[in-house]
Amino acid sequence: MALGLCDSNQPFLWVIRQGSDPLPEEVNKIVSEKGYIVKWAPQMEVLAHPAVGGFWSHCGCNSTLESLVEGVPMICRPFHGEQKLNAIYIESIWKIGIQIEGEVERGVVERAVKRLLVDEESASMRERALVLKEKVKASVRSGGSSYSALDEFVKYLEKVLEMEEKPTRRRVVLVPVPAQGHITPMMQLAKALHSKGFSITVAQTKFNYFIPSDDFSDFQFVTIPESLPESDFDDLRPILFLLKLNKECQMSFKDCLGHLLVQQGNEISCVIYDEFMYFAGDAAKEFKLPNVIFSTTNATTFVCRSVFEKLYANNVLAPLKDSKGQQDELVPEFHPLRYKDFPVSCWATLESILELYRNTVDERAASAVIINTASCLESSSLSWLQQERLVIPVYPIGPLHIVASAPTSLLEENKSCIEWLNKQKVNSVIYISLGSLALMEVNEVMQTASGLDSSNQHFLWVIRPGSICDSEWIECLHEEFLKMVSRRGYIVKWAPQKEVLAHPAVGAFWSHCGWNSTLESLGEGVPMICRPFSTDQKVNARYLECVWKVGIQVEGELNIGGVEKAVKRLMVDEEGEEMRERAFSLKEKLIASVTSGGSSHKSLEEFELPGCLERHPAQHFFAAWGLMGEPFHGEQKLNAMYIESVWSVGIQIEVEVERGVVERAVKRLLADEEGASMRERELVLKEKVKAAVRSGGSSYNAPDEFVNYL
Ligand code: UDX
Repeated sequence: MALGLCDSNQPFLWVIRQGSDPLPEEVNKIVSEKGYIVKWAPQMEVLAHPAVGGFWSHCGCNSTLESLVEGVPMICRPFHGEQKLNAIYIESIWKIGIQIEGEVERGVVERAVKRLLVDEESASMRERALVLKEKVKASVRSGGSSYSALDEFVKYLEKVLEMEEKPTRRRVVLVPVPAQGHITPMMQLAKALHSKGFSITVAQTKFNYFIPSDDFSDFQFVTIPESLPESDFDDLRPILFLLKLNKECQMSFKDCLGHLLVQQGNEISCVIYDEFMYFAGDAAKEFKLPNVIFSTTNATTFVCRSVFEKLYANNVLAPLKDSKGQQDELVPEFHPLRYKDFPVSCWATLESILELYRNTVDERAASAVIINTASCLESSSLSWLQQERLVIPVYPIGPLHIVASAPTSLLEENKSCIEWLNKQKVNSVIYISLGSLALMEVNEVMQTASGLDSSNQHFLWVIRPGSICDSEWIECLHEEFLKMVSRRGYIVKWAPQKEVLAHPAVGAFWSHCGWNSTLESLGEGVPMICRPFSTDQKVNARYLECVWKVGIQVEGELNIGGVEKAVKRLMVDEEGEEMRERAFSLKEKLIASVTSGGSSHKSLEEFELPGCLERHPAQHFFAAWGLMGEPFHGEQKLNAMYIESVWSVGIQIEVEVERGVVERAVKRLLADEEGASMRERELVLKEKVKAAVRSGGSSYNAPDEFVNYL
């Protein structure tokens, strides 16, 4: 090759890469006279240089393109692969080169170089190369074919990325009821889910608009448009207001969710809505999004609503309306609840209440129900719900205020009461608060104050502005009231309640028994004086007194003697001490239930499983027997989940199988009380399963239907 180049009498620049065989000495000598050798050259610069008239190349793709762009004709000596194809194009299609085939010999090289640089043929090759150069440059300029192709490819990429299904869709849209007792647990749930990696969107109306603090800076807040008058919330009172709000938001929330879906794309996993904001469930269903009901009341109230509906259907509502003793009767098969404990309200007719309750849970539309409760508080109501009422999974994941804390107060908290508590003795103060909605008559306030005064106990009293009928705050109360308060009490408009209940000076809680207040009190081991006002509060009060035995209910008209007696029973008598002990042991159980391994903790984890955020198939009952599940794979895991969490007839071993773990599981199943209640539930299931295959049972009929179908 070197000799042929020299014979051609053309100067040359030759790249001989390091590592190639060295040229023989005499050849090297001739070459250095006519040419110039380098180990690596700036190739694009070289090809652009006006001195360069031809390129001897192996015809690699890049070298070919670089030569074309500079209009330099080529001598083609391909080695392998696509280089051979390029050489054919260069020589035969674009006609801007000469291919050297066969052996490289001095004469062949000389001829090729001369054809390319000296002969007439070379001029026409160069002309064609220059035309091609212009075309190639034009193709990458605006409007050129390569320029447009790149544009199209970018558009295509954008589309593909937009369409691409993200591996996990983890944004949750939350729809709280616009009231303190509902916003608080919903935001606690939001915090808990956020800490597990979910993105959060909160959709709220203008009523009781929750203005988020910096603690929620990662959350998206959107407003559901509606045009109800501002005064509706106070004028209509909860039940009628909720019925109206649901109608009003039916369409507007669909639009709102539609916008969110466009904005957030596939990121939205599901809609979680307060049970009383059922319009959100309808909208989610329309967009085929899983929708989850969140109950901020407890499981027993949930059960009550079903029983209530059944009574109504069977025309047995008289005891609910009657005041001649029937109200005090126990509801058959629903002990210890009495007719008067049903979650009705003085603010609405039975019919309106029933309408609201009927709308709350449509399990055919929902994927799951989350309840802010713990199974240690209401295992039988939870089992009943799961076994008798709902065909979708139920997740008791509370108390949420222990799981996640966040400032959610709509009113400003007066922290000065903590300083006042700091000056009081341990368990010496009774804390009084009626939550965010309950009202008191002036006379009731006076009787309570006098009763407290004669009990000689210290008290911290939250009197919410507007909570005394026909009064802005306390201006309507007599001088006497302020005197009694100044002796042993302290009044605020709104307190940091959780901090108050956690204070060692607080020995009891006089409460309306809202579910949040109940959980917060139980979570601090504080026994209660129960003075329920409406709806679920009556159920909670009955459970506090008769099931958990950590409270005293004050019923009937309030009078000084009744208040004094209740306060003394709780604050002074031995009975109060026993209640405090039981409350303390409940506190420990509640804390255990939300810590790793606890039932609520597990429930929350199960809820987060991708399957739980999708539509659940109808349940299939199969014969249940006492089981200690250690599932291996496939559907065994799902069955184990059902055995443990849905039918509550087994214990799943999730951690490594170790001696201690096995021992504990066996004991829980065979020796502990827990095992006994599992066995009870399982016997109920057994009967149901047997009934299913007997004449008239669901499985009994199914084969016939199947044969007909066949
Ligand atoms: C209502 C119902 O009564 C309740 O049963 C239902 O579950 C939710 O809606 P509310 O009447 O406000 O709620 O009572 P509650 O559930 O006890 O909620 C009140 C909340 O306000 C609690 O979280 C409590 O900590 C907080 N609070 C109350 C304060 O922070 N400061 C106060 O001074 C009083």
